[in-house]
Amino acid sequence: MRPDQALRQQGQACAALGSPMYAGLLARLADDWAAGGPTARVLAGHEDLPAGSALALRLLGSVHRLVLERRAGGLGVLYPSVGGTWDPVAGPEAVLGLLSEQPEAVREWLDRPPQTNEVGRSAALLGGLLHLDDALRLPVRLAELGSSAGLNLLADQYAVGDASGPVHGPPAAVVRLERGWAGRPLRPWPGLRFVERLGCDPRPIDPRSTAGRLALTAYVWPDQVARLERLRGALAVAAAVTAPEVRPQPAGAFVEDLRLREGTITVVWHSVVVQYLDAEEQRHVVDRVERLAADATPASPLAHLTMEPPRRGAGTPGEVPVVLRTWSGLPGDGEPRVLGHAAPHGLPTTWA
Ligand SMILES: C[S@@+](CC[C@H](N)C(=O)[O-])C[C@H]1O[C@@H](n2cnc3c(N)ncnc32)[C@H](O)[C@@H]1O
Repeated sequence: MRPDQALRQQGQACAALGSPMYAGLLARLADDWAAGGPTARVLAGHEDLPAGSALALRLLGSVHRLVLERRAGGLGVLYPSVGGTWDPVAGPEAVLGLLSEQPEAVREWLDRPPQTNEVGRSAALLGGLLHLDDALRLPVRLAELGSSAGLNLLADQYAVGDASGPVHGPPAAVVRLERGWAGRPLRPWPGLRFVERLGCDPRPIDPRSTAGRLALTAYVWPDQVARLERLRGALAVAAAVTAPEVRPQPAGAFVEDLRLREGTITVVWHSVVVQYLDAEEQRHVVDRVERLAADATPASPLAHLTMEPPRRGAGTPGEVPVVLRTWSGLPGDGEPRVLGHAAPHGLPTTWA
């Protein structure tokens, strides 16, 4: 796909997903690329990338990271992520100025795929757990596939609420997913305890390192201030507690080592990860979960909880089903239940 097409397409997606800043900026950069301006010089050598390579987000993530590092001259006054105010006319021209003045600095990040960790998805995952029957409400051993920085392994540290106010989580939580839940009220689980938190990702991000925090922040769209606030809160939580282990492994290898344990429920969960697995790895994960399920008993049950967008063309755009399967060695085990639907970044999740 030609870069101007990629920029334009991503701009339309940003408009639909609540970033007017990136929508307008990408339209201007697409025109500039077509006119052979600074955008074309910065993207030289990237003219023929596959459609899924997210070139536009690589480019804007790189610019954003220069802003966050205070290396982008006066651009900070225009970026809401650092307290500025976006101007739809002056903003794109100022970004073009940066591309013109610092092309090599911007090009440094063009080869890295964007990577985010959406804390809002904790609302969907945690709310999914609150659907477990009493008999399954045992201490939780959490195993997450595609954890990125592992911020959703800390879901129990965040306060989640519905229209009536906070429902779950520490009253003084730094991360507050207010009105994270809509629809049918959930039954609280005050004794919920994570006794193990383990994740995997082929490219884990260390949320305690400066480089890790910078990368996670740079790929959030700068005018989505609430998303940034949630991320910054979760980074503070990750710095204050024992950070969960995220193994540098793909999901297929990680699930091989999973075992059930008496007196606990093993929960395998994941959000917006399956699309990154090839068909063979997807099958392998499902097979392995089903083999584990064969060992489940009432004393060592298993749950598989997912928030995964349906395949392109299926389902309702912008609604991500939250699906739970549980096994405890009893009749009716393993039946998938669609618990509700989440917005792409998790908030709100509406329970059926
Ligand atoms: C869109 S992010 C979602 C991250 C996190 N689950 C969330 O909801 O914020 C997708 C993640 O999947 C990871 N990933 C890519 N290929 C993978 C694989 N084969 N196995 C496990 N994770 C993978 C990426 O590195 C990235 O961190």
